Amino acid sequence: MRRSVITATGSYLPERILTNDELSKMVDTTDEWIVARSGITQRHIAADDELTSDLATHAAKAALEMAGLKPDDIDLIVLATATPDETFPATATVVQKNLGMTRGFAFDIQAVCTGFLYALATADNFVKSGQATRALVIGAETFSRILDWEDRTTCVLFADGAGAVILEAEDGEGTSDDRGILTSHLHSDGEKHDLLYVDGGPSSTQTTGYLRMEGREVFRHAVNNLASVVHEAMEATGLTTDDIDWLVPHQANKRIIDGTGRKLKLDPEKVVLTVDKHGNTSAASVPLALDEAVRDGRIKRGQLLLLEAMGGGFTWGSALVRW
Ligand code: UT7
Repeated sequence: MRRSVITATGSYLPERILTNDELSKMVDTTDEWIVARSGITQRHIAADDELTSDLATHAAKAALEMAGLKPDDIDLIVLATATPDETFPATATVVQKNLGMTRGFAFDIQAVCTGFLYALATADNFVKSGQATRALVIGAETFSRILDWEDRTTCVLFADGAGAVILEAEDGEGTSDDRGILTSHLHSDGEKHDLLYVDGGPSSTQTTGYLRMEGREVFRHAVNNLASVVHEAMEATGLTTDDIDWLVPHQANKRIIDGTGRKLKLDPEKVVLTVDKHGNTSAASVPLALDEAVRDGRIKRGQLLLLEAMGGGFTWGSALVRW
């Protein structure tokens, strides 16, 4: 059975760090409130001349370097973002140009904070079908550009960054001992549009718009949706949550991550946590967390990883990966 194995990771965070104390001078908030309600202490914000494609290109270059590959070794780029450089063309094609990649094809995926899981599942299907042998999957965001910096209920939570992985086709036995993406599960529920959306766009207002969120309502759905999509992955493979070596969750809120971990009865030591330093970087959050735990040596070959995320739409999803 043809499998997509993650052979390398990379990430990039803009240089500028915005602390909770700085935010408390901009809106009516405190470091204590932000830490207690979200676990976030700081976040990175892109420079004025730094675009989503620039963040994505840095992350992609780091992944290519780890893999020892050249840009033209890649057949496909799938880039997840809700903050593209322009309405069109796809930011993925800008990254293709930035990398000097002269072949293959590139496109964007829009599933907001679940974007990386959607992009990973899409690329996995291209690899499994034989339409691509090597794929670059990126999550990149400049959420600072769609935040209402006067709205304390949202501007303290979201941030900028990028993460990338390289998928390469390998033959497996078709069992859960194989390396690579063992299963992925995606969901959406368009009825929940009003709980998390951007109030603008090319067709509706001809403006970019700002992020609007009913945080409490999103929170209420998050833990249940995430726990259920994790169970779905376990049932599909016949594995149990005891088999998971690392949970690499979307980094929206430490309380959501803790709640999901408790519901899954996972040892907190097995959860990769970056929300404290990165904030919620939407589609970039899972590959950023993954890259950190790969590079610091926590994630080791043969281990079982569960990636999950939830975001606007609503959308939510999981992927079970043997490293
Ligand atoms: O990436 C995927 C999507 N996003 C998420 O997963 C986010 C999900 N939601 C959350 O993470 C949490 O709901 C928040 C962190 C957004 C908020 O935490 P909460 O415990 O649900 O707080 P709350 O919205 O119930 O607000 C509690 C109080 C309110 O005051 P009242 O109504 O009790 O007087 C808010 O007005 O906190 C107030 N508040 C703030 N106070 C200080 C809201 N934002 C702030 C703030 N600083 N920045």
